[in-house]
Formats: sequence, structure tokens, C-alpha cells
Amino acid sequence: MNTKYEIKNPVTGKATQLDAIQGTIGPDVLNIAPLLKEQGVFTFDPGFMATASTESKITYIDGDLGMLLYRGYPVEQLAEKSSFLEVANLLIYGSLPSKQQLDAFQDSITRHTMVNEQLLRFYQGFHHDAHPMAMVSAMVASMAAFYHDSTDINDPRHREIFAHRIIAKLPTIAAAAYKHSLGQPFVYPRNDLRYCANMLNMFFAVPCEPYAIDPVAAEALDLLFILHADHEQNASTSTVRLAGSTGANPYAAISAGVSALWGPAHGGANEAVLDMLESIGSVGNIDRFLARVKDKNDNVRLMGFGHRVYKNFDPRAKIIRGMCYRVLEKLGRTDSPLFELALRLEEIALKDDYFVSRKLYQNVDFYSGIIYSALGIPRSMFTVMFAIARTAGWVAHWQEMVSDPHMRIGRPRQLYTGPTKRDYVPIDRR
Ligand code: ACO
Repeated sequence: MNTKYEIKNPVTGKATQLDAIQGTIGPDVLNIAPLLKEQGVFTFDPGFMATASTESKITYIDGDLGMLLYRGYPVEQLAEKSSFLEVANLLIYGSLPSKQQLDAFQDSITRHTMVNEQLLRFYQGFHHDAHPMAMVSAMVASMAAFYHDSTDINDPRHREIFAHRIIAKLPTIAAAAYKHSLGQPFVYPRNDLRYCANMLNMFFAVPCEPYAIDPVAAEALDLLFILHADHEQNASTSTVRLAGSTGANPYAAISAGVSALWGPAHGGANEAVLDMLESIGSVGNIDRFLARVKDKNDNVRLMGFGHRVYKNFDPRAKIIRGMCYRVLEKLGRTDSPLFELALRLEEIALKDDYFVSRKLYQNVDFYSGIIYSALGIPRSMFTVMFAIARTAGWVAHWQEMVSDPHMRIGRPRQLYTGPTKRDYVPIDRR
């Protein structure tokens, strides 16, 4: 039975009953809809600190326990036993696929990897030093101009074609952005390769010599992608939902998500962590750097630390830390100075009262950049890699929202603190 909460106007004494709605796990959620109608007030929650923006069945996070479940399955189990495409399938369709379903899904993704040749010409309009995230978000938005058979959001088959197409083509679009920045020819996808191996080939192969795909690198990417695949209503996913709630085509909604991910407080953190480690330079400079982080007059943050939801540990960071060791070991790079610096910085920060008292721990991005670097992925591509993985989650959330017959446009309200009504003053009297 749902619990009722009562809100009373202290002046008139008028009371409003609010239902506390129960989820399958996690805190109850108060339905505040009657407040406006019955009490004439909005709620105020900048940054959505305590507001559930939607109902969802996809991903669950318990920030205190450090728990992350995709459709109920712990991310640790998926990281150990699954593959990125199986996880993408799980997120989108809701249950683990049978062998036949997974084969069909993988086959469909593989056969959608090429992009329209005209789309590839768009890259010529970008300067060679354009940030790949700028190119990727523009390319994703431009897909709506090419793939008209997947933009009717009310047609389930259109939605499905879109889902397969965007997951399949994002690596091709990302690789083309990278190749453009290098001035190298685009490398076409190869259908004999698996998702991550194909991506590495498109990134690093050149027409003049053979390129041997490193299975360690492909495996590491697949694992990183599983860990980044979804994270419930984070900033970019909420952006995809908000843009999509207007009825905009799905490519426009995903492009909005790519743009939101770019910020250093979100997906851009992996790039910012390496910039930070390089600017610290050596272990001897850590104390001076942390003093700046703790100085409220200095706008410096310890990048890769802190999370809105995780206040104990980020389970993804735990897995990535272990993986970082393994990957560097297999690649013979355990002497990486950046890795050593990161380990020491982490050790010092975790004992420092500033971070302990604020419950600031390493997040998923503290180590991901070091792994990407070891795999030869350039720093400007780190957030693009995150975007490729998170596309699975964005698609799942967009599908969930659009297939709900009760979908409404997302339209927050505000606390207005500007001037009250005043009359226009002609310019000669101001
Ligand atoms: N370094 C130093 N201080 C920090 C950090 C940090 N990384 N993160 C939070 N704090 C401090 C804040 O200054 C604040 O201190 P105060 O109470 O004295 O004012 C307190 O901790 C709470 O911080 P908020 O900014 O209010 O926390 P919020 O939940 O809004 O922010 C965020 C979370 C954006 C992730 C933040 O921790 C941060 O900027 N981290 C660094 C960037 C980063 O790594 N982002 C990746 C997040 S994971 C992801 O998106 C994939």
C-alpha cells in the first residue's frame, strides 16, 4: 500500500495528501503533482538533487552501497561474463538475449556499420583541428537528413532500425572524425570483425601497410564499453530524454546527448584527468596541487573524483582500476609514469580529510583515460569513446520514453527572481 504524506499551508491550514510511490528497490518517490493545483506552489530543486525526473526500468544505482544494475544484473557480473553488444541488447530489449537473438542482433549491427558516402563528405568542411566531439555531434544530427526510414518515432520498426543504425554507425563516424584530424583516408568498416576490433581497425589501419589488431586492446575496449553503457538519469541521458520528449527525431535527441556529455563535469572528465595528471607532472607536486583543489578561491577540481550519486565508491572505478593494471601489464607498460602518478594521487586523496568528509572517491573516469592512452587512443577521442558506449543507454532510455503512451513534453518550471512588471522607457528618457 502506498504511504501518504501531508503538506499543510501554515497560513490557511489547507492540507494536501501526497502519494509516496514505491519502486522495486530504492527510496519511495513523492508524487508532488497535486501541489500546484491544490496549494499553488512549485517545488524547487536546482540540479535535480532530490527529484526523480522519470520512471524507468533500465538501470538502478545505489550510491551508498556502490551498486550498479543494468536491468537487474550487477555490472560486475556483466563485466566478467558478457560483451558490449549483449549488454546493449539487454539495455534496449529488457532481458538477456537467447543465442539466436544475440546472433541476429550482432549481425544486424555489423551490417549497418557503413555510413552514407555523402555524409562522409561533411568532414571536409571541418578544420583539421576541430574537436572530434564537435564533429561527432554534428554528424549524428545530420543522420536525420539521410535515414528517413527511421525517424517516425511512433513506428516501432522505425525505432528499432534507428537503434541498430546508431549503435552500428557511431564507431564509423568517430573513426572518420579521427582520420580527418590526422589527414588520413577513411577506413571502411569490416564485417568479418567484431564491434571493438572493427573500431580499432577503422581508427588505426592505413592503406599502405597491414594493421594487426591487438586482441588485448579489443577486449579492454569491450569491457570499458560495458562499464560506460548506461547510468540511469545522468546529465546526457536526461538531455536525450528532454530533447526526445518534444517529438524531435531520435538522431537529434542523441546528438543533444553527445553535446551534453562533452562537459568536463560529465564525460569530458576522462580527457581532463590526463590533462590534470600532466599538469601535476610528478609525485613531488601532488601536495601543491591538492592545496589548490582545496582552496575555494581557486577554481581547480580533482578530476575523476566525486560523483552526484556514488558516496561510498563507484563500482565501475573499482573494475577499471584492476583492469588498468592488467592492460598495462599485458602491453608491458606498467612503468607508465602517469599511472604511477594517478596511483599516488589516489592514495593521498583518499586519506585527506577534505575528500573523506565530502565523500569524494574515484569515479569511472579516473583510470579510463590511462587505459585509452595505453591503447593508443588520442586524448581528444576519450569522450568520443564514452559517447559510443553510452549510445546504448541513450537509445534504451529514448525507446522507453517514446514507447510510453503517456509520454509528455518535459517542461520544468522556475523560481522567478527578475524584475516585476514595469513599463518600457523610451531611449531619450533612460
Ligand atoms: N574536487 C574537489 N572538490 C570537489 C570535487 C572534486 N572533484 N567534487 C566535489 N567537490 C566538493 C565541492 O567543492 C563541494 O564542496 P563544498 O561542500 O565545500 O562546497 C562538495 O565537494 C560537493 O560537490 P558538488 O559540486 O556540490 O557535487 P555535485 O554532486 O554537484 O558534483 C561532480 C558531482 C560534478 C561529479 C563533481 O564531483 C565534480 O566536478 N567532479 C570532477 C569532475 C568529474 O570527475 N566528473 C565525472 C563524473 S562521472 C561521469 O560523469 C562519468
